Amino acid sequence: MRILVVDDELSNRRTLEVLLKRANHQATSACNGIEALERLQQHKFDLVITDLRMPQMDGMTLLENIKQQYPNTQVIMATAFGSIDTAVEAMRMGAWDFVTKPIKKNELLQRIRKAAEQDQLQQENRQLKSEIAKMRPNWIGQSLSMERITEEAKSVADTNASVFLVGESGTGKSLLAKWIHKTSLRNAGRFIVLNCGAIPENLMESELFGHEKGSFTGANQTKVGRLEQADGGTLFLDEVTEMAPQLQVKLLRVLQDGEFERVGGTQTLRTNMRVIAASNRNVEQAVEEGRLRADLYYRLNVVQLKMPPLRERLDDIPLLVEHFLQVQANKNNRAHKPISDAAMQSLQQWDWPGNVRELENTIERAIVLSKGEAIDLVDLPSHLQGPAPSQQIMHFPIGTSLQEIERHFILATLASVDGDKNRAATLLGITVRTLYRKEAEWREAGWIQ
Ligand SMILES: Nc1ncnc2c1ncn2[C@@H]1O[C@H](COP(=O)(O)OP(=O)(O)OP(=O)(O)O)[C@@H](O)[C@H]1O
Ligand SMILES: [Mg+2]
Repeated sequence: MRILVVDDELSNRRTLEVLLKRANHQATSACNGIEALERLQQHKFDLVITDLRMPQMDGMTLLENIKQQYPNTQVIMATAFGSIDTAVEAMRMGAWDFVTKPIKKNELLQRIRKAAEQDQLQQENRQLKSEIAKMRPNWIGQSLSMERITEEAKSVADTNASVFLVGESGTGKSLLAKWIHKTSLRNAGRFIVLNCGAIPENLMESELFGHEKGSFTGANQTKVGRLEQADGGTLFLDEVTEMAPQLQVKLLRVLQDGEFERVGGTQTLRTNMRVIAASNRNVEQAVEEGRLRADLYYRLNVVQLKMPPLRERLDDIPLLVEHFLQVQANKNNRAHKPISDAAMQSLQQWDWPGNVRELENTIERAIVLSKGEAIDLVDLPSHLQGPAPSQQIMHFPIGTSLQEIERHFILATLASVDGDKNRAATLLGITVRTLYRKEAEWREAGWIQ
């Protein structure tokens, strides 16, 4: 480490310099705060060891300056024996540590070693963070709601807070969970998925906690559970409302103190993991009905992210469709094809109860079936080819003029009844004469032929 020693007494400076050099550090010294700041301007120092009382500029003022101008340089404050208040104040102001004078060699060297370790960690974290900041999300979505989710996900990613993802099936909760892990400082650890709804209740406990050989019939081998696998990484508890109540109690203990035992084991093991939970159910209701323990829910729900259903962000559909056209064509060994306007329009009018997953499946099916140059209406499932007029839905972006909405709406109504003006007028609640008049206006304006 490159260390700057600041002390107004020459003998103190010399002693420290010799000590530090012997311990393989690079040491420079300054006799007061002002000189120290000059040195800091010339070189980058990893650590400053400074005396508290000095003429011209004292240790506290120096500390304040360093924290402002060189936040990555650590400071160890040397204080007179008994002035613990000052030491505490220094720590509060950002000093890394303090030592009391007269300085004990071993103690100081040990503090420096710790500072060096911390420095290394911080450097790694800074690097990781800047790499992470550059990572693009692995999901598609430019709608406001998705951008908000992206921002929220980014801000929780590098914390250790538990995250609860809620939202309907197929909205991208699993995708988001993976992304949070990837962009967290735990991304060197593993991302372990446990689907609480898919594993039979009697196997669940040993899945989660592992078991010792011979702990029950069929336990022929020791098994490492998901909790152990997730150590240093992230545990994703999918469909968490489906977990058996007695297991919820055991899981809660792990979340509270990080400790657990394997089934049939006596040794207490520790795990350090981040938990992300997800559910596509009504979670509050599950808590009310006692299926999900309230105390577990509060632990898991430190941050809640709600994935919006696809029907509330129809403006993302064109981007998603384009994305899936590429991905699914690759996956199915087909050439990339464009999609017709009519087909795209129909995709934007469906309400997608199965959300993005349903859209992805629809595109995959279309790619596999399509014989033409482009994906067209005929390649879509029948409910997307021409819904009954009463079910058809139109969307207009905010900012559309009423005139334009009226025109599109009337023309769509006409189209849905095959141009039958009497029926269209009845549906619209206007007279047939009004309909003719409007058509004439549009024709004159050149909007229709
Ligand atoms: N915004 C998105 N961009 C790209 N692909 C997406 C997006 N959202 C979801 N997907 C894709 O849709 C499919 C379903 O997503 P995912 O499995 O994450 O949903 P889920 O919310 O976990 O559903 P469930 O509640 O049924 O588990 C996946 O193939 C996923 O890759
Ligand atoms: Mg999922």
